[in-house]
Amino acid sequence: MNALQSISRGAMSSWATQNRAPRLLRVFLGATFIYAGWDKASDPGFLTQGEPTYIGTQLAAFAANSPIGFLLNRILDHATYVGILVMVAEFAVGIATLLWVAPATAAFGGFLLSVTLWLSSSFYTTPYFLAGDSAYAVMWLAYLLLLIGNRRMPATNFQRRSVLRTAIVGALAVAATFAGKALPKGSASVKSSTKGKGAQIIKVAELPVGKTINFVHSAQGVPAILFRTKAGVFAYSAICTHEGCSVTYKSSSKKLICPCHAAQFDPFAGAKVVSGPAERPLDKVKVKISGAWVVEA
Ligand code: FES
Repeated sequence: MNALQSISRGAMSSWATQNRAPRLLRVFLGATFIYAGWDKASDPGFLTQGEPTYIGTQLAAFAANSPIGFLLNRILDHATYVGILVMVAEFAVGIATLLWVAPATAAFGGFLLSVTLWLSSSFYTTPYFLAGDSAYAVMWLAYLLLLIGNRRMPATNFQRRSVLRTAIVGALAVAATFAGKALPKGSASVKSSTKGKGAQIIKVAELPVGKTINFVHSAQGVPAILFRTKAGVFAYSAICTHEGCSVTYKSSSKKLICPCHAAQFDPFAGAKVVSGPAERPLDKVKVKISGAWVVEA
């Protein structure tokens, strides 16, 4: 039996012998971690300096409000590698969990990742239940304890064929990362060719009424989101005023939403806080129409 057959047989037989509680955790945690990896891999800004969602920008914001801020500051110079590592690790943990390859190791990896993300980004979040990473850490720990307590779990997997099976999961994780890069979910931010007042952001004709774009405001040095309405143009910093994650615009709800702790801002009412832990509006960024261009004001 080759390694692929061994993996698929192991996944099916483990599923058949598992109770509903570990099954539920396995599917939810495995699929969620694959989705988390895909969300980063398909984000064209995640590994690109100057983009609103650049991992380095997020780490710098986290460092200012984290009990392990001193560690985050140390790895800032290697932010791109950290981003790649997190992406591949999320894919690997998710795939291994679903396929039942080294399940306890994968669960421990998921637990470690969740604890690290919790310490980095949401340790001081109040109320604490808004910090999703802490809930994931608890779920991974509960799943791990269920696995350890289950005598039918194939502990021998750690010794036999484990190298090949783990290598296949690693290869799948890397392939998924490349697939995400090849299928970006949006386009990168627009960048001005000049800097400061009057710097051209985008041609008015390229930004229809009702549309938005991400751009980097050169004068204020921040990633920002530009809106065009019938009344003209306006823009806000994309940095959440809670703990510095990058907000994105959801056209379905017409709100700017922070992925970290779910703060929502209304861009059509001065970016005031609609819900969530943030307490003040997003910073305004000055733009105007000048001739055929939208420019920095
Ligand atoms: S960083 Fe917490 S809601 Fe945005």
